[in-house]
Amino acid sequence: MNTHELERLLMQQPVSLLHRLARGRISRHFRSGKRKLVDLLLQASAENRPGLESDLQTLIDERAQRPQPVPVEKTRPPEARSRQAVPATSRPHRTDDHGHHHEPPVSLHEWLSGIGVPPPQPFVPDAWQVEALAKLAETDVVVSVPTGSGKTYVAIEATARAMRENRTVIYTSPLKALSNTKFTEFSRVFGPGQVGILTGDRREHSQAPLLIMTTEILRNLLYDAAGGEIDVRLDTLGLVIMDESQYLADPERGVVWEETLIFCPSQARLLLLSASIGNPQDIADWLTAIRPSPCSLIRHTKRSVPLRAGYLHPNEKLTPLFRTAGIPYGQPHLLHPEAKRLFIEYEEETGPSRSR
Ligand SMILES: Nc1ncnc2c1ncn2[C@@H]1O[C@H](COP(=O)(O)OP(=O)(O)OP(=O)(O)O)[C@@H](O)[C@H]1O
Ligand SMILES: [Mg+2]
Repeated sequence: MNTHELERLLMQQPVSLLHRLARGRISRHFRSGKRKLVDLLLQASAENRPGLESDLQTLIDERAQRPQPVPVEKTRPPEARSRQAVPATSRPHRTDDHGHHHEPPVSLHEWLSGIGVPPPQPFVPDAWQVEALAKLAETDVVVSVPTGSGKTYVAIEATARAMRENRTVIYTSPLKALSNTKFTEFSRVFGPGQVGILTGDRREHSQAPLLIMTTEILRNLLYDAAGGEIDVRLDTLGLVIMDESQYLADPERGVVWEETLIFCPSQARLLLLSASIGNPQDIADWLTAIRPSPCSLIRHTKRSVPLRAGYLHPNEKLTPLFRTAGIPYGQPHLLHPEAKRLFIEYEEETGPSRSR
């Protein structure tokens, strides 16, 4: 077989077979898509071409002998295939091997439906956003609401208010990348000259009324302020926003958040934002104890963007993870049959080979 023929034969194989062939030949081959995998295998074939060809033939033969799984769609009775038109209430119920009663599993199409950019609507702040801003006029605030709820809106409105009162604002995030993103986002909202950034890598507009920085930088600024050496004015500071403030519980970096909160100038309001603080009331109580003004907690757990769980196989097949469109917490038997099938396929392909 010449190289061109070998390449063509490899391209005809499913990715899963190529991954099996790559085992022991290419490190971390699961990171590669089909084209890349074929190229890597061709490179690897330079070392032992006959070995690769014979393993390839063995895998092709094995695959030919294995009963091929019947695609799920085809095994369904005709009424289930046209299920999109069937209202949920009239779906036929089934019983699985364990005696669980089920509706037919959600199709990939149904599971993906509704994802995308929603039609434009007038912006109406949620009640918790209004409440957080109202509380912030009087107290420090801890906001603990799910991801995607709109914490940035509260940060932006609170910043705008502080700026109108000629106060400066510091916004901290745990990551340089997030600081960069917020720098771009806030520059668009407030105008480029109004926003500065201070991270280990970047230092721009350090005299701007809104400064974005990593929490470590703020902590160091506060240390310097305590020692009298400082180049950012803290006497006009009106608001400190700490995004991703669940880092307070981080075993290594948490101390930075703790010290920053302790050293934060008393005239500045604190706004802590997080999607995932386990004990936000404890944090609010602690801040109330150490700061001159009380701290309010704004908390809710209802997701505005519901989670969907899917399974993406390395061979690029995507399937819902569960039979239902939402996540059926505590009901592991509701795994989607297609996901189960792909798990088994993956195990067969990546586990120790039983047939040789
Ligand atoms: N009241 C609202 N009504 C509709 N959409 C909103 C509302 N508030 C915010 N949004 C939109 O929700 C999306 C998510 O907002 P945002 O990025 O602020 O979430 P977040 O709470 O900071 O999430 P994360 O925990 O991922 O940081 C944005 O597109 C934002 O414009
Ligand atoms: Mg956010």
